[in-house]
Amino acid sequence: MIEVRNLTRRFRRGSETVTALDDVSLDIIPGELTVAAGPSGSGKTTLLSIIAGYERADAGTATTANGEPTGQLGWVDLGFVPQSLTLLDELTIAENVDLPDRLNPGTRGGSGQSGSAGLAPDGDPDRPPVVQLMEQLEIGHLADRLPSQVSGGEQQRAAIGRALRLAPAILIGDEPTGHQDRGRVDLVLNILRQHAYAGHVVLISSHDEAVISIADRVITLADGRLVADERSRAGTVPGR
Ligand SMILES: Nc1ncnc2c1ncn2[C@@H]1O[C@H](COP(=O)(O)OP(=O)(O)OP(=O)(O)O)[C@@H](O)[C@H]1O
Ligand SMILES: [Mg+2]
Repeated sequence: MIEVRNLTRRFRRGSETVTALDDVSLDIIPGELTVAAGPSGSGKTTLLSIIAGYERADAGTATTANGEPTGQLGWVDLGFVPQSLTLLDELTIAENVDLPDRLNPGTRGGSGQSGSAGLAPDGDPDRPPVVQLMEQLEIGHLADRLPSQVSGGEQQRAAIGRALRLAPAILIGDEPTGHQDRGRVDLVLNILRQHAYAGHVVLISSHDEAVISIADRVITLADGRLVADERSRAGTVPGR
Protein backbone atom coordinates (compact mmCIF):
# COMPACT_ATOMS: atom_id res chain seq x y z
CA MET A 1 0.00 0.00 0.00
CA ILE A 2 1.15 3.52 -0.79
CA GLU A 3 -0.20 6.40 1.26
CA VAL A 4 0.05 9.71 -0.61
CA ARG A 5 -0.69 12.68 1.61
CA ASN A 6 -0.98 16.29 0.47
CA LEU A 7 1.72 16.00 -2.18
CA THR A 8 2.60 19.32 -3.75
CA ARG A 9 5.34 20.13 -6.25
CA ARG A 10 6.04 23.48 -7.85
CA PHE A 11 8.47 24.36 -10.60
CA ARG A 12 9.85 27.79 -11.31
CA ARG A 13 9.89 28.89 -14.93
CA GLY A 14 11.42 32.35 -15.03
CA SER A 15 9.19 34.57 -12.93
CA GLU A 16 6.31 32.11 -13.22
CA THR A 17 5.59 29.24 -10.80
CA VAL A 18 3.97 26.09 -12.20
CA THR A 19 2.15 23.89 -9.70
CA ALA A 20 2.77 20.44 -11.20
CA LEU A 21 1.12 18.65 -8.27
CA ASP A 22 -1.39 20.37 -6.04
CA ASP A 23 -2.24 18.81 -2.66
CA VAL A 24 -2.83 15.27 -3.90
CA SER A 25 -3.88 12.62 -1.35
CA LEU A 26 -4.84 9.00 -2.01
CA ASP A 27 -4.10 5.41 -1.03
CA ILE A 28 -2.91 3.01 -3.72
CA ILE A 29 -3.71 -0.53 -2.71
CA PRO A 30 -2.24 -3.87 -3.79
CA GLY A 31 -4.07 -6.40 -5.93
CA GLU A 32 -5.39 -4.11 -8.65
CA LEU A 33 -4.04 -2.26 -11.66
CA THR A 34 -4.25 1.48 -10.95
CA VAL A 35 -3.84 3.86 -13.89
CA ALA A 36 -3.08 7.56 -13.49
CA ALA A 37 -4.74 9.34 -16.40
CA GLY A 38 -4.98 12.98 -17.46
CA PRO A 39 -3.80 15.19 -20.30
CA SER A 40 -0.20 16.05 -21.08
CA GLY A 41 1.16 18.32 -18.37
CA SER A 42 -1.43 17.26 -15.76
CA GLY A 43 1.18 15.97 -13.32
CA LYS A 44 1.34 12.21 -13.93
CA THR A 45 5.13 12.02 -14.27
CA THR A 46 5.59 14.32 -11.29
CA LEU A 47 3.38 12.13 -9.08
CA LEU A 48 4.98 8.86 -10.14
CA SER A 49 8.51 10.28 -9.95
CA ILE A 50 8.01 11.54 -6.40
CA ILE A 51 6.59 8.17 -5.30
CA ALA A 52 9.57 6.43 -6.92
CA GLY A 53 12.09 8.83 -5.39
CA TYR A 54 13.22 10.38 -8.69
CA GLU A 55 11.77 13.76 -7.79
CA ARG A 56 11.30 15.60 -4.51
CA ALA A 57 8.08 17.05 -3.15
CA ASP A 58 7.75 20.61 -1.85
CA ALA A 59 5.14 19.45 0.63
CA GLY A 60 3.42 16.23 1.60
CA THR A 61 4.54 12.62 1.78
CA ALA A 62 4.38 9.29 -0.03
CA THR A 63 4.95 6.38 2.34
CA THR A 64 4.28 2.69 2.79
CA ALA A 65 1.74 1.62 5.41
CA ASN A 66 4.70 1.43 7.83
CA GLY A 67 5.43 5.09 7.31
CA GLU A 68 8.57 4.49 5.28
CA PRO A 69 9.05 7.04 2.46
CA THR A 70 8.54 5.12 -0.82
CA GLY A 71 11.24 7.24 -2.44
CA GLN A 72 13.84 5.59 -0.24
CA LEU A 73 12.96 2.03 -1.27
CA GLY A 74 15.39 0.12 -3.50
CA TRP A 75 14.78 -2.20 -6.47
CA VAL A 76 13.93 -5.05 -4.10
CA ASP A 77 10.83 -3.25 -2.87
CA LEU A 78 10.04 -0.75 -5.61
CA GLY A 79 10.53 -1.17 -9.37
CA PHE A 80 10.26 1.94 -11.55
CA VAL A 81 9.90 2.31 -15.31
CA PRO A 82 10.64 6.01 -15.94
CA GLN A 83 9.17 7.80 -18.97
CA SER A 84 12.78 8.23 -20.16
CA LEU A 85 13.83 4.62 -19.78
CA THR A 86 17.31 5.11 -18.29
CA LEU A 87 18.84 1.87 -19.54
CA LEU A 88 22.60 1.85 -19.13
CA ASP A 89 24.17 2.22 -22.60
CA GLU A 90 27.19 0.05 -21.94
CA LEU A 91 25.33 -2.94 -20.54
CA THR A 92 23.57 -5.49 -22.74
CA ILE A 93 19.80 -5.91 -22.63
CA ALA A 94 20.21 -8.99 -20.40
CA GLU A 95 22.59 -7.13 -18.06
CA ASN A 96 20.19 -4.19 -17.85
CA VAL A 97 17.25 -6.47 -16.97
CA ASP A 98 19.43 -8.23 -14.41
CA LEU A 99 20.77 -4.98 -12.91
CA PRO A 100 18.60 -5.05 -9.74
CA ASP A 101 19.84 -8.55 -8.94
CA ARG A 102 23.46 -7.52 -9.58
CA LEU A 103 23.02 -4.61 -7.18
CA ASN A 104 21.33 -6.81 -4.58
CA PRO A 105 23.00 -10.18 -5.10
CA GLY A 106 21.10 -13.16 -3.76
CA THR A 107 18.16 -11.03 -2.63
CA ARG A 108 15.66 -12.83 -4.81
CA GLY A 109 15.92 -14.80 -7.97
CA GLY A 110 19.66 -14.80 -8.28
CA SER A 111 20.22 -18.52 -8.09
CA GLY A 112 18.08 -19.76 -10.94
CA GLN A 113 15.24 -21.06 -8.79
CA SER A 114 11.97 -21.27 -10.64
CA GLY A 115 9.41 -18.68 -9.77
CA SER A 116 11.84 -16.45 -7.99
CA ALA A 117 11.26 -13.65 -10.46
CA GLY A 118 7.65 -13.80 -9.37
CA LEU A 119 6.34 -14.04 -12.89
CA ALA A 120 7.11 -17.52 -14.16
CA PRO A 121 6.17 -19.88 -11.32
CA ASP A 122 5.82 -22.82 -13.72
CA GLY A 123 9.05 -22.08 -15.52
CA ASP A 124 11.89 -24.48 -16.12
CA PRO A 125 14.02 -24.54 -12.95
CA ASP A 126 17.15 -24.84 -15.08
CA ARG A 127 16.47 -21.60 -16.92
CA PRO A 128 17.53 -18.48 -15.00
CA PRO A 129 14.64 -16.20 -14.00
CA VAL A 130 16.14 -13.34 -16.00
CA VAL A 131 15.89 -15.45 -19.16
CA GLN A 132 12.28 -16.42 -18.41
CA LEU A 133 11.40 -12.82 -17.73
CA MET A 134 12.97 -11.64 -21.00
CA GLU A 135 11.14 -14.36 -22.91
CA GLN A 136 7.83 -13.31 -21.38
CA LEU A 137 8.55 -9.76 -22.54
CA GLU A 138 9.57 -11.03 -26.01
CA ILE A 139 13.11 -9.70 -25.73
CA GLY A 140 14.81 -13.06 -25.05
CA HIS A 141 16.48 -12.99 -28.46
CA LEU A 142 18.01 -9.57 -27.74
CA ALA A 143 19.91 -10.56 -24.59
CA ASP A 144 23.38 -9.77 -25.90
CA ARG A 145 22.58 -6.53 -27.74
CA LEU A 146 23.22 -3.06 -26.40
CA PRO A 147 20.25 -0.71 -25.88
CA SER A 148 21.37 1.34 -28.91
CA GLN A 149 21.01 -1.78 -31.05
CA VAL A 150 17.32 -2.44 -30.26
CA SER A 151 14.09 -0.54 -30.94
CA GLY A 152 12.42 1.94 -28.59
CA GLY A 153 9.68 -0.57 -27.81
CA GLU A 154 12.26 -3.26 -27.04
CA GLN A 155 14.19 -0.85 -24.78
CA GLN A 156 10.96 -0.10 -22.95
CA ARG A 157 10.24 -3.81 -22.44
CA ALA A 158 13.78 -4.18 -21.08
CA ALA A 159 13.10 -1.34 -18.62
CA ILE A 160 9.90 -3.15 -17.58
CA GLY A 161 11.88 -6.36 -17.10
CA ARG A 162 14.40 -4.51 -14.95
CA ALA A 163 11.60 -3.10 -12.78
CA LEU A 164 10.03 -6.56 -12.35
CA ARG A 165 13.33 -8.40 -11.88
CA LEU A 166 13.06 -8.77 -8.11
CA ALA A 167 9.24 -9.00 -8.05
CA PRO A 168 8.92 -5.82 -5.96
CA ALA A 169 5.90 -5.17 -3.76
CA ILE A 170 5.49 -1.83 -5.56
CA LEU A 171 5.75 -1.34 -9.31
CA ILE A 172 5.53 2.16 -10.80
CA GLY A 173 5.46 2.59 -14.58
CA ASP A 174 5.34 5.97 -16.33
CA GLU A 175 3.54 5.29 -19.64
CA PRO A 176 5.06 1.80 -19.77
CA THR A 177 3.16 0.99 -22.99
CA GLY A 178 3.95 4.31 -24.68
CA HIS A 179 6.42 2.80 -27.16
CA GLN A 180 4.54 -0.46 -27.83
CA ASP A 181 2.50 -1.63 -30.81
CA ARG A 182 -1.10 -2.79 -30.23
CA GLY A 183 -0.16 -6.44 -29.60
CA ARG A 184 2.67 -5.56 -27.23
CA VAL A 185 0.42 -3.13 -25.32
CA ASP A 186 -1.69 -6.18 -24.44
CA LEU A 187 1.41 -8.26 -23.66
CA VAL A 188 2.77 -5.64 -21.26
CA LEU A 189 -0.63 -4.99 -19.65
CA ASN A 190 -1.12 -8.70 -19.03
CA ILE A 191 2.25 -8.94 -17.32
CA LEU A 192 1.58 -5.85 -15.19
CA ARG A 193 -1.91 -7.08 -14.27
CA GLN A 194 -0.49 -10.48 -13.34
CA HIS A 195 1.94 -8.70 -11.01
CA ALA A 196 -0.91 -6.71 -9.46
CA TYR A 197 -3.14 -9.76 -9.03
CA ALA A 198 -0.27 -11.58 -7.30
CA GLY A 199 -0.87 -9.07 -4.50
CA HIS A 200 1.45 -6.21 -5.41
CA VAL A 201 0.88 -2.47 -5.81
CA VAL A 202 0.96 -1.56 -9.51
CA LEU A 203 0.55 2.09 -10.50
CA ILE A 204 1.07 3.16 -14.11
CA SER A 205 0.31 6.32 -16.05
CA SER A 206 -1.25 6.46 -19.50
CA HIS A 207 -3.43 8.52 -21.77
CA ASP A 208 -4.12 5.51 -23.98
CA GLU A 209 -7.85 4.61 -23.89
CA ALA A 210 -6.97 0.94 -24.36
CA VAL A 211 -4.95 1.01 -21.14
CA ILE A 212 -7.47 3.09 -19.21
CA SER A 213 -10.33 0.79 -20.24
CA ILE A 214 -8.77 -2.31 -18.69
CA ALA A 215 -7.66 -0.61 -15.46
CA ASP A 216 -9.27 -1.71 -12.20
CA ARG A 217 -9.00 1.83 -10.93
CA VAL A 218 -8.43 5.10 -12.76
CA ILE A 219 -7.22 8.21 -10.97
CA THR A 220 -7.45 11.33 -13.12
CA LEU A 221 -5.24 14.38 -12.76
CA ALA A 222 -5.90 17.83 -14.21
CA ASP A 223 -3.57 20.77 -13.60
CA GLY A 224 -1.89 18.86 -10.80
CA ARG A 225 -5.10 18.08 -8.93
CA LEU A 226 -6.79 14.76 -8.40
CA VAL A 227 -10.15 15.29 -10.12
CA ALA A 228 -11.57 11.75 -10.34
CA ASP A 229 -11.00 8.36 -8.72
CA GLU A 230 -13.06 5.58 -10.26
CA ARG A 231 -13.16 1.81 -9.89
CA SER A 232 -14.30 -0.43 -12.68
CA ARG A 233 -16.94 -3.12 -12.08
CA ALA A 234 -16.23 -3.94 -8.41
CA GLY A 235 -15.87 -7.62 -7.72
CA THR A 236 -15.14 -8.74 -11.26
CA VAL A 237 -11.38 -8.56 -10.98
CA PRO A 238 -9.99 -12.02 -11.78
CA GLY A 239 -7.78 -13.76 -9.29
CA ARG A 240 -9.21 -12.13 -6.19
N1 LIG B 1 11.64 20.20 -14.43
C1 LIG B 1 10.58 20.97 -14.69
N2 LIG B 1 10.68 22.32 -14.75
C2 LIG B 1 9.61 23.10 -14.97
N3 LIG B 1 8.37 22.63 -15.15
C3 LIG B 1 8.19 21.30 -15.13
C4 LIG B 1 9.28 20.40 -14.89
N4 LIG B 1 8.79 19.13 -14.91
C5 LIG B 1 7.47 19.25 -15.14
N5 LIG B 1 7.11 20.55 -15.26
C6 LIG B 1 5.74 21.04 -15.48
O1 LIG B 1 4.89 20.43 -14.53
C7 LIG B 1 3.63 20.11 -15.12
C8 LIG B 1 3.38 18.61 -14.95
O2 LIG B 1 4.32 17.88 -15.72
P1 LIG B 1 4.32 16.30 -15.81
O3 LIG B 1 5.55 15.91 -16.54
O4 LIG B 1 4.13 15.75 -14.45
O5 LIG B 1 3.02 16.02 -16.70
P2 LIG B 1 2.49 14.66 -17.35
O6 LIG B 1 1.07 14.51 -16.94
O7 LIG B 1 3.41 13.55 -17.03
O8 LIG B 1 2.55 14.96 -18.92
P3 LIG B 1 2.84 13.95 -20.17
O9 LIG B 1 1.54 13.22 -20.41
O10 LIG B 1 3.16 14.89 -21.30
O11 LIG B 1 3.98 13.04 -19.82
C9 LIG B 1 3.71 20.58 -16.56
O12 LIG B 1 3.14 21.87 -16.63
C10 LIG B 1 5.19 20.64 -16.83
O13 LIG B 1 5.47 21.58 -17.82
MG1 LIG C 1 4.61 12.31 -18.18
